[in-house]
Amino acid sequence: MEGIYRKHIPISHIDGVKIKDGTKVFADDSYIRESILYPNAKVAAGWESIMPTYQGLVTEEELLQVIAYIKSLNQGQTPPRTEETPTPATIQNKVPNKEVN
Ligand code: HEM
Repeated sequence: MEGIYRKHIPISHIDGVKIKDGTKVFADDSYIRESILYPNAKVAAGWESIMPTYQGLVTEEELLQVIAYIKSLNQGQTPPRTEETPTPATIQNKVPNKEVN
């Protein structure tokens, strides 16, 4: 999730319905909040809708802290990924963190 804050994120589905290719959403605080509470509301393009909801599992204060943390993540600030699946942020910015075969 490095570098997603205030970027335009390509999304593929809204509430389970496939939408036009190339549709983007502005990743502001409310998008991050919605993605945590209602992961199915807007699904990042290229990803399956597998994220579980955290509704009822986090307090408002915890939610604000997680959102603040995600907002603080700029590209290059977290350790290199070991997975070979690109993140939504790297898909958007076309800057892979790691060479993939
Ligand atoms: C601390 C727990 C979690 C937080 C705070 C969190 C937060 C988020 C946020 C803010 C997004 C939207 C980012 C974007 O559009 O690029 C997202 C997307 C996603 N998350 Fe999570 N997530 C969590 C846990 C999980 C878990 C446990 C899974 C899977 C087992 C998961 C799978 C995904 C996937 C596949 C996406 C991209 C597709 C989509 O937009 O739904 N997440 N998550």
